[in-house]
Amino acid sequence: MNITKATEQARVLCQLQLDEAKTKIERNKLGQFATPTDLAADILKYALELLPAHLQIRFLDPAFGTGSFYSALLQEFNPLQIVSAVGYEIDPHYGLSAIALWRNTPLKLNITDFTQATPPQTDAEKANLIICNPPYVRHHHLSQIEKQRLQNKTLQITGIKLSQLASLYCHFLCIADAWMADNCLAGWLIPSGFMDVNYGQQVKEYLLNRVTLLRVHQFHPHDVQFADALVSSAVVWFKKALPPANHHVEFSYGGSLATPKERKLVACEVLNSTAKWTRIGIISHQINSHFKQFKLKDLFTIKRGLATGANNFFVLTPEQVSAYQIPTEFLKPILPSPRYLPVDEIATDSMGHPILKQQLFLLDCNLPLSEVESKYPSLVKYLQKGVENGISSRYLCQHRSPWYSQENRPPSPFLCTYMGRQDTKRGRPFRFILNHSQATATNVYLILYPKPILSKALAQNSQLLKLVWQALNHISDEMLMGEGRVYGGGLYKLEPKELGNAIASIPL
Ligand SMILES: C[S@@+](CC[C@H](N)C(=O)[O-])C[C@H]1O[C@@H](n2cnc3c(N)ncnc32)[C@H](O)[C@@H]1O
Repeated sequence: MNITKATEQARVLCQLQLDEAKTKIERNKLGQFATPTDLAADILKYALELLPAHLQIRFLDPAFGTGSFYSALLQEFNPLQIVSAVGYEIDPHYGLSAIALWRNTPLKLNITDFTQATPPQTDAEKANLIICNPPYVRHHHLSQIEKQRLQNKTLQITGIKLSQLASLYCHFLCIADAWMADNCLAGWLIPSGFMDVNYGQQVKEYLLNRVTLLRVHQFHPHDVQFADALVSSAVVWFKKALPPANHHVEFSYGGSLATPKERKLVACEVLNSTAKWTRIGIISHQINSHFKQFKLKDLFTIKRGLATGANNFFVLTPEQVSAYQIPTEFLKPILPSPRYLPVDEIATDSMGHPILKQQLFLLDCNLPLSEVESKYPSLVKYLQKGVENGISSRYLCQHRSPWYSQENRPPSPFLCTYMGRQDTKRGRPFRFILNHSQATATNVYLILYPKPILSKALAQNSQLLKLVWQALNHISDEMLMGEGRVYGGGLYKLEPKELGNAIASIPL
């Protein structure tokens, strides 16, 4: 099923009709306030940014309603990526309509109480993406027996005993832990109150010690996210993994998830010793690290990628490597040109090779010919071919010694494609690539090597790599195009120096 804006409009209409058929009191009891379309889309877009590219998604929404998040998931992600999608909805009034709405999709919606359901047993069945706007039901609306049951369940799952005063959403968040596979990403849209009230203490304990808290975004209280529920809300992002040493959490405030008004990184140590978190998001100057404006040249040495002088000869496919029996010690993984790079974040295998359809290797040998002749007869044969075809006498090769050695361009996590048009499908002329592999790149890329000040910060904070990449991607096209030049036919180009003058907001 092709989920389009029209499908979402139909869902919103259905939601309105279902809401209207109930009284406000009835809806309050079960916390039935739907997430607006734009906010759901922002949330899923951000999840897409955080998750590894091409991850096979097992999605869970424990408080499904009619499926605002599921709709956004289907629109923002490649539907082929979604291997399973599970929802829970206690109220058949919404649940049955949702089943009808999504009948042609992989969704398995359970019309039952999520807090009483049995979680899957194995990691392979558990979710790796949970997005939820849980019911905001205050404890006064829960019976004593219900509170006791929820408290026991939360304790059994997380080892954390929530207060009897905790709202239902706190229990939802903790109980969902049992549905999360290792490294599962969770995004919870919840009232920001938990950050300050006493009953939120244990929720914060869970977020700081049992999982890796990634980000807390608080909306401005005047910018009420729900037309019909007057609460100030936050989106809390975390990952099911123990927090690394010296972990920092991004706190952002105001504006939207993608473009908050304020943002800063806060050390877990600081959070541990701060009783009220909402102030952290708002008051500047109090926290040690901020997003600061940097010219890229202050943080990176920017170099054009390798100029081999003959990519056809020096850049080889695995088939060519085996046909010519090129010894592996002279091969380095190298990225394909941006045209053949479908993703902006490149995953790596255990050997440091990029996980891409097109695997390529750079031939790079510094040994003098006499040594190659005595030790590597198959390589000599291949080099001979290069001599016969005039490769060795090309300008660039002639100026290298030996001619089959390459410039020194070690891999870097950050690259930029510096030639592009605005009128492409992507609509953006330049791309910043996050490279987790050991692949180097040819001169169709600019390579951004972190300078010591940035390298040091990256080594100290595992979160920073992605934040820096996101910051690079947030540099406006106008700024990049303003720095670069435009050629005939609308081709934009950036020289290393020009990219160095672009300004990014980086959390250092
Ligand atoms: C805040 S709404 C969110 C709905 C939808 N996910 C959205 O964002 O538009 C919470 C939903 O959870 C449902 N709900 C309340 N208690 C529940 C429970 N114990 N188990 C499963 N669903 C529940 C409500 O009926 C309501 O549809």
